[in-house]
Amino acid sequence: MDAATVMARADALGAVSEEPGVLMRSYGSAAMARANELVGGWMRDAGMEVWRDAVGNLIGRYDGSGPGTFLLGSHLDTVRDAGRYDGPLGVLIAVAAVERLHAREERLPFAVEIVGFADEEGLRFGTTYLGSSVFAGCFEPRLLDVRDADGTSLADAVRDFGGDPDRLADGGRGGDDVLGYGEVHIEQGPVLERRGLPVGVVSAIAGQSRIAVALRGEAGHAGTVPMAGRRDALCAAAELVLAVERTAAEEPGMVGTVGRLVASPGAGNVIPGAVELSIDLRHRDDDARRRALAALRAEAERLGAARGVEVGWEVRQECGAVPADPALSDRFAAAVEAVGVPVERLPSGAGHDAAAVAAVAPVAMLFVRCVGGVSHSPAEAVEEPDVGVALDVLERFLRGVDTGAGAGARAEGVRA
Ligand code: HGY
Ligand code: MN
Ligand code: MN
Repeated sequence: MDAATVMARADALGAVSEEPGVLMRSYGSAAMARANELVGGWMRDAGMEVWRDAVGNLIGRYDGSGPGTFLLGSHLDTVRDAGRYDGPLGVLIAVAAVERLHAREERLPFAVEIVGFADEEGLRFGTTYLGSSVFAGCFEPRLLDVRDADGTSLADAVRDFGGDPDRLADGGRGGDDVLGYGEVHIEQGPVLERRGLPVGVVSAIAGQSRIAVALRGEAGHAGTVPMAGRRDALCAAAELVLAVERTAAEEPGMVGTVGRLVASPGAGNVIPGAVELSIDLRHRDDDARRRALAALRAEAERLGAARGVEVGWEVRQECGAVPADPALSDRFAAAVEAVGVPVERLPSGAGHDAAAVAAVAPVAMLFVRCVGGVSHSPAEAVEEPDVGVALDVLERFLRGVDTGAGAGARAEGVRA
């Protein structure tokens, strides 16, 4: 099992999309079901037992010779017009590492479970870490009522995907057998490329806030309503978008983005009466992020009042910054050194499922260099030799994992 196979599988998975011409796999889509089938088959070929849990996470298990389970994984869903490596690469490298063990009929002193999370990006419902939060037993039931652009509730989407919405808050995988969680992921940034390194060890994952803002003004005829007294929701939104940019730019290490903005009714000769927009705010210091968010909310209320535009502010998701577990990170560092690569430790501005799994296990991550640091784009690319290094590092990392925890129950799930 080598990097060429991982790359070929990433290509095959990259062709599984719900939209022709672009790569898009949102929660509960037929494309996600197809991705689960494809990866589930590769897991079975690696000697793993395969099932899905109540939200549709794909889980493969390779038993060990002793108690305890080490978790690996990443997500199989994507953003819209995505690259093929953000998420899937981590799952495929983990499967390849187990396939190497299986080929040698080797058992580690603990089991390995690999999770292909069903929704990390939150593309359909704005719910980042949906799959991993269920897996980690920290799903918020209030999200079951959230509706997608077509008005379908998350609860119905879970049911349609073969899951059970009534069990999402059941406590997740649980089990005192968990030794830790490791995630291999593309860096999605330029650091490793600038340092000339194939891989790096993640020090921490930035905290993030995702806000859904609804601005309600008054629609009207573009030609007959005087400028004075208009309650133009899109002008209010424009002020808020620039306030997000200014607030983030003024705080070192902070990033703020309005990635989605929908003006209604969306006709050229109608004053926009309503706007829905998203705010994504991140920082490695939670207090700094919360202060900035409070300031932005106050600014939204002020500009809304000045324009006669009502402001709806829904905190869709809040995730604190997560430090990587020192002992597991040191094991990744030792494995990186063992393959002759200098060790670079770097923070992650992007969120990862490890941030959610940290609720139930010590977590660590290995970054893989990506070309130009580009991600969330079809231009996302990795080099095959770097994937080979990551696979060798993960294999060595697994051999270095301490055992010790007692065997625990395995999460029940829907047998795939
Ligand atoms: O948005 C993120 O940080 C990740 O790609 N979900
Ligand atoms: Mn992503
Ligand atoms: Mn990702």
